Amino acid sequence: MKFPGLKRVAPASVLDGLSTAVIALDQSLRVAYLNSASETLFSVSRKHAFGLPVAQALPHFSAIEARLRRALENGSGFIERELRLRRSGEEPIAVDCTVTPVTLPGPGLLLEMLPVDRHMRISRDELLLAQHEVSRELIRGMAHEIKNPLGGIRGAAQLLEAEFPDSEHREYTRVIIREADRLKNLVNRMLGPNKLPQMAPVNVHEVIEHVRQLLEAEASDKIAVTRDYDPSIPEIVADREQLIQALLNITRNALQSLDGQDQSGKIVLRTRTRRQFTIGGQRHRLVAQIDIEDDGPGIPESLMERIFFPMVTTRAEGTGLGLPIAQYLIHAHGGLVECTSRSGCTVFSIFLPLDLDDRRKT
Ligand SMILES: Nc1ncnc2c1ncn2[C@@H]1O[C@H](COP(=O)(O)OP(=O)(O)OP(=O)(O)O)[C@@H](O)[C@H]1O
Ligand SMILES: [Mg+2]
Repeated sequence: MKFPGLKRVAPASVLDGLSTAVIALDQSLRVAYLNSASETLFSVSRKHAFGLPVAQALPHFSAIEARLRRALENGSGFIERELRLRRSGEEPIAVDCTVTPVTLPGPGLLLEMLPVDRHMRISRDELLLAQHEVSRELIRGMAHEIKNPLGGIRGAAQLLEAEFPDSEHREYTRVIIREADRLKNLVNRMLGPNKLPQMAPVNVHEVIEHVRQLLEAEASDKIAVTRDYDPSIPEIVADREQLIQALLNITRNALQSLDGQDQSGKIVLRTRTRRQFTIGGQRHRLVAQIDIEDDGPGIPESLMERIFFPMVTTRAEGTGLGLPIAQYLIHAHGGLVECTSRSGCTVFSIFLPLDLDDRRKT
């Protein structure tokens, strides 16, 4: 079978489309090629790495340099599962690695690496999104059930009040009305936004700056909000109000976690682009990453698995809806919210696809 179209496709662009990291080494173990997944995985630029000895360009490989040299000399490759590649001072990167001798021209090695936690992340993403979908349906159902009789209860209390305007029991009807209103607010939050999203091109940084200003107004002098933006992020098609809501829910949590402590605190708002990134089983060419980092006490490990579930809260006045609503809103934009936390460093990352138009085509 012939594929005439294939001739026109430059091999480099095909390799850049892979989510597997691919590196080619020449006979002196110098980097002869590196695809864009490798750039992302090892945080190295191709321009910098090209032509350098592998262990110099990618210090992660120092520990297996001798093995690579043997593979080259013997002309025999190897496969290693969950190989841990480490650069000093950083967390190791676990990959499934295949090393194959090739002719470049001249003898060389082809390294293919698929990050292991990426497998887990992809399946976890899907599980996470499915779980949110289920709990959201449950909540909406419950909220409707509560909302309907609530109107009746409030109406009846109002009638009672009108019937006996001077009654000594007026204070009771006031309580009923006030509590019914409080419950209605809660139920409305549980139901989530009732407007259809207004999708339009949005500048991510303009939205974050708006949120930052609201945050600064709420924050005490002890809390510093700093920014670290990647100005290259293109506009995103989104509902501005919903993005603001999601960001506010997450940043307010950061603020509340810092408010609770005596010492000063810091919130960092960071933006980056990510290439070839998978969200809920869908691969995206380009994704915007918005990190909200705080140096507060962190989220207790026992809570970590559940923070995106509704009604999970540790705050006395909390409803435990901030994060599930943020997750829902970001999900409605094809994105995902993730969190990592330890004492002194909690990071919520919002991932938003920037290639939704491509996605619609597929
Ligand atoms: N940055 C953070 N640092 C520490 N704990 C956090 C952070 N963000 C969230 N949490 C924990 O996650 C819980 C759930 O957050 P969520 O925003 O869903 O609800 P909430 O803030 O308690 O109530 P609300 O509905 O008013 O937002 C919080 O109660 C808190 O324990
Ligand atoms: Mg909250």
